[in-house]
Amino acid sequence: MKTLRLIFIVFNFYCISLSLQGQSITVNTNKTTATIQPTMWGIFFEDINFAADGGVYAELVKNRSFEFFKPLMGWEIKQNGGAIGSVLVVNRNKAESDNPRFIKMTLSNDKGNFGLMNEGFRGMGIKKNLQYNFSVWAKPESGNISMHVQLIDSTDNSLGESSTIRISKGGWQKYNTSFTATATSPKAKMMVWFGGKGVADFDMISLFPQDTWKERPGGLRADLVQLLADMKPGFIRFPGGCIVEGRELATRYQWKKTIGPLEDRKLIVNRWNTEIAHRPTPDYFQSFGLGFYEYFQLAEDIGASPLPILNCGMACQFNTAEVVDTTQLDPYIQDALDLIEFANGDTTTAWGHLRAKLGHPAIFNLKLLGIGNEQWGPQYIERYKIFTKAIKSKYPEIQLVNSVGPDPDGEKFNFLNDTLRALKADILDEHYYRPPSWFQNNANRYDNYDRKGPKIFAGEYAAQSVATVSPDNKNNWLTALSEAAFMTGLERNADVVNLASYAPLFANVEAWQWTPDLIWFDNLHSYGTPNYYVQKLYSNNKGTNEVSILMNNAPLEGKDSLYAAACTDSVSNELIIKLVNTSAKPIVKIINIDSKKKLATNAEIILLQNNDLDAVNSLDEPKNISPESSEMKILNKQLKITLKPFSFNIVRVKMM
Ligand code: AHR
Repeated sequence: MKTLRLIFIVFNFYCISLSLQGQSITVNTNKTTATIQPTMWGIFFEDINFAADGGVYAELVKNRSFEFFKPLMGWEIKQNGGAIGSVLVVNRNKAESDNPRFIKMTLSNDKGNFGLMNEGFRGMGIKKNLQYNFSVWAKPESGNISMHVQLIDSTDNSLGESSTIRISKGGWQKYNTSFTATATSPKAKMMVWFGGKGVADFDMISLFPQDTWKERPGGLRADLVQLLADMKPGFIRFPGGCIVEGRELATRYQWKKTIGPLEDRKLIVNRWNTEIAHRPTPDYFQSFGLGFYEYFQLAEDIGASPLPILNCGMACQFNTAEVVDTTQLDPYIQDALDLIEFANGDTTTAWGHLRAKLGHPAIFNLKLLGIGNEQWGPQYIERYKIFTKAIKSKYPEIQLVNSVGPDPDGEKFNFLNDTLRALKADILDEHYYRPPSWFQNNANRYDNYDRKGPKIFAGEYAAQSVATVSPDNKNNWLTALSEAAFMTGLERNADVVNLASYAPLFANVEAWQWTPDLIWFDNLHSYGTPNYYVQKLYSNNKGTNEVSILMNNAPLEGKDSLYAAACTDSVSNELIIKLVNTSAKPIVKIINIDSKKKLATNAEIILLQNNDLDAVNSLDEPKNISPESSEMKILNKQLKITLKPFSFNIVRVKMM
């Protein structure tokens, strides 16, 4: 009896170890299968959803230059106690100025209070004890006019005010004053009170908080930039997106109009102002306070390679589809050549000199440049050829990014993909806004791409929980988990895929047009979505050398709901394994690590998980889904791991 029992136990043990063996995963760290580019995981920035004005650009005053279609949009005249005054919108001769309008203020008596109120971008987020910096351009005409600034909350309580500014004789001058807020308010407004009697002109009325990113005057919102910096992105693509193209050519993005003195940057309408009919934002314009110099500076600050995208002589093909005749492309090409000189030219060159004058004598080290956004058709190829010839003959070292259209498949994609491959393009920019299932089913998308052909930039992607452009799309855990699964395939194919970025990046909770988005914010707070944490985890665990991770000699690409990729980091000497379980059941796995190197006895496990695929993060629960770290033992180069249901797992092991 005893012997029988023993036989039974041994048999059982044999069976269990056999089944574990059969399902075990093997990582081979001895051979690199692909080199992972430092650019691999990056950021896509577009001024959509109030990402720039009303977002990361920390200006609190909306329509500071009175250049919106309705010149006083965002402003309200306040008059009480017998004050008599008027505000006139004056237009300078257009040929003289990119900022033609200003206001002429007449105060006919010095009774009561006369002022202008600015509502901010859905209110102003004001913080107690923080300094606020006010500035204005003014020119007196007659009499004696003075002014002071006051912040008020939604019930008109004062949140602090400045001392008085006296407008002195002479021409246009800039005046500054600072004051400290006495209380916090998410929905404050700014009052500019005028005193005295007479006439004076005003323009560029501006208010910035002191706590901008790196405390730069007129800078960016620090909390939002910090979220980007925390991603340690390999690149930042800017300024979009369709915004590069414009609805029509006249409103395309022109980088030269976005640098230099703020008051000379020509404001234009934002193409997202009217684009999404069910989410209209009539007060959406581009002040270009965040312009190309600031984009380059931001890239440098967060350690990302700059990746500007320029208009290629084509307006958005979903809108007007205007094109510039190919014989008249010179100014567009010159913009590209000058941009390269602006970024990389030494200070003896015209554009390099300007860069130095703006405060950055060192080069910005531009290596990548996009020509066109989501273009398609033979007209793109015609322009691609002209641009490529002109740029490559002067700057052969610049890698050009080219469009393969708005979809990852279909007629438009196939035409451009085939043609650009035949023309030996450098990098193809693929976009996919698709359902979560598409992401889960396409982890093998790049396995059979031509290893010698153009590199891939997965330039815009996001799983859509309902449908593309649906206002009901959510940044829920299903979308993030599906992207995590798909991204194992991007990493595994890092020899082909050199860059990837989620899109869009930012959304103002009160002024968005497009959802889902990576980071959401209101006037005072911000949070990363579960999708943000997926992106951040990939980027923070990038590694340098892809290695093989196999089960039954095959890559893990979704069979039995399991996805995986593995790499080593030659700098930190670590093995980094990424595993995604998209099923509702836990998966137990043995991972055998085949390595010539000695391994630490402990591994770090980073887990992003939720049992509810509908779960989201929010302003109230910003970290509902966020990574947690733990440790696990490694024995004989073997690791037994339980992958929780619906989980994204990262294993980091030191190699000696
Ligand atoms: O990311 C939003 C938009 O989607 C981009 O502007 C465009 O390139 C794409 O169609």
